[in-house]
Parts: sequence; C-alpha cells; structure tokens
Amino acid sequence: MSTTYTLDTATSRAHPTPTPVRRLTVPGIARRKGGEPVVMLTAYTARYAQLLDPHCDMLLVGDSLGQVIYGLDSTVPVSLDMMIAHGAAVVRGSYHAVVIVDMPFGSYEAGPEIAFANAARVMKETGAAGVKMEGGEAMAPTVRFLVERGIPVVGHIGLTPQAVNALGGYGARGKSEEERAKILADARAISAAGAFAMVVEGVVEPLAIEITGSVSTVTIGIGASAACDGQVLVTEDMLGLFDRTPRFVRRFYNLAEQLDAAARAYADAVRDRSFPGADNLYQLPA
Ligand code: KIV
Repeated sequence: MSTTYTLDTATSRAHPTPTPVRRLTVPGIARRKGGEPVVMLTAYTARYAQLLDPHCDMLLVGDSLGQVIYGLDSTVPVSLDMMIAHGAAVVRGSYHAVVIVDMPFGSYEAGPEIAFANAARVMKETGAAGVKMEGGEAMAPTVRFLVERGIPVVGHIGLTPQAVNALGGYGARGKSEEERAKILADARAISAAGAFAMVVEGVVEPLAIEITGSVSTVTIGIGASAACDGQVLVTEDMLGLFDRTPRFVRRFYNLAEQLDAAARAYADAVRDRSFPGADNLYQLPA
C-alpha cells in the first residue's frame, strides 16, 4: 500500500479514499443504543486517523494525547490549543467516523458560557462533530447549555482522569454503595442533559451494566463491561506500544517490539553501509 497521500482540506477527506462514503453522524450513533456495538478508538494524528477510520464508528481525539504524544504525567496540563491542533489533523485524515475532541481540563468547568465559547472554537477550528467533557451531575447544566446551542456532547463518567488529583489515583470506581449511587446519578444527569453518548470508564462491571440499562444515551465502555453500547481504547495501548498496560486493555499487537526490531535493522544497515542501497539512490541520466 502506498503511504503517499494528500489531504483535501476543502472536504476534510484524505486521499486516496477507498470509495466515496458519507461520514457517520451524531444522530446515527445515538440510534445505536442497544444495537450494533459502537467502535471507538483514540487518534491524534492524520495518518493514524486514516488507518483507523475504516474500522471505527467514532474517533476520539482524547486528552490522553498528553501522556501518549507529549510524555506528560497526566492529562491536567493539556491545553485547548493542543486539542485543536490534533483535532484538526484527525478530521483531515478521516472521512467516515464521527470525530469527537476532548475538552481539556480548565476549558469548561468554570461555567456554561466559557464552556460554550471554548467548545465553539473546537468545532470551528477542527471540523469535529462534537466534544467530550468529563463530569457528572455538576456538569449537567453545562452539557445541556451546549447541546441546546447545537454542540453535540459526549459525557465521561466513572473514573474521570482529569480529576486524578481529587480522586487520588486511577483505581476502579463504584465499589462502595455510596460511590455506585453517585456514579449512577451522574450517568442519569448527563443523559437527561442531552449527551448523545457517554464514556463509562473504570467502574465495576455490574455498575456499567446498570448504567447502560438505565439511560437512553449510548454508553461507551473502557474498563467497564462488554454489555456497554460500545467500547473505546487508547489506540497505542491496544497496539502494545507501552510496557505497562492496565487490566482493562487488551493488546491486539506488539508495536513496541516491531518498532524496536525495525529501528535495530535500520541502525545495522546504516552501520554496515548496506543502506542506502542502489534502489534508494539517484543517478545521473545515462
Ligand atoms: O482521553 C482519552 O483518551 C479518553 C479515553 C480513554 C476515553 O478519554
């Protein structure tokens, strides 16, 4: 397969496309409640978006890019400008999936108006179909404010990584009756506020099943349950790029090993002068 491509910014489509296809829509995803599972992966760059797009219903430009791309300790330092730059790249690289961009920490919590202004920037400058925001009952008025003004919202409840400092870590949630009731109330509030989908992250399985059965919103699990309406993983986790993967990740490939082998082969070829070879060189015309 050729890796040479150009990006048509007029249509947000990457070329070559397999066949002209219409992009999936937010209402189309919302209608998948209780139906065919929604497939979502993270993407941060145009090329990854191109490769993942044919297989995914939704691509999430997650603020996990803070750790995956930028080597940060958490998602807390991620900025709106970072999300917009990567969001635009993923929209340019995709033609089929619904692209959602994470609102980073500090860009929406202060109130509905500031959240709307920042989400509108994301929509205008990336071409994404919607935004994702972490939080439960407290964020419901903000979710409603955005949805009523034309911005589709994906919620994110349970383990909410932007709140790592308040939660004290990334452990599974919903183990106590009190926590279970709180997370269920969060799910109901975000659903009632109009979120068309919600990520349910890092909760005990019975709670994920209860949430999925209690809300009309599409639930997308990560460390939750196969009974959710869809699943999401960080692509680099799924590809086996990191040495340590949490329990909820399944490695579908061993990219770290493959990358190591390729870099070693390249280094060997440079050192023994077998690269560049005759095929890689330009000569004067005969
Ligand atoms: O930032 C992210 O990638 C996410 C997913 C893990 C759901 O929020």
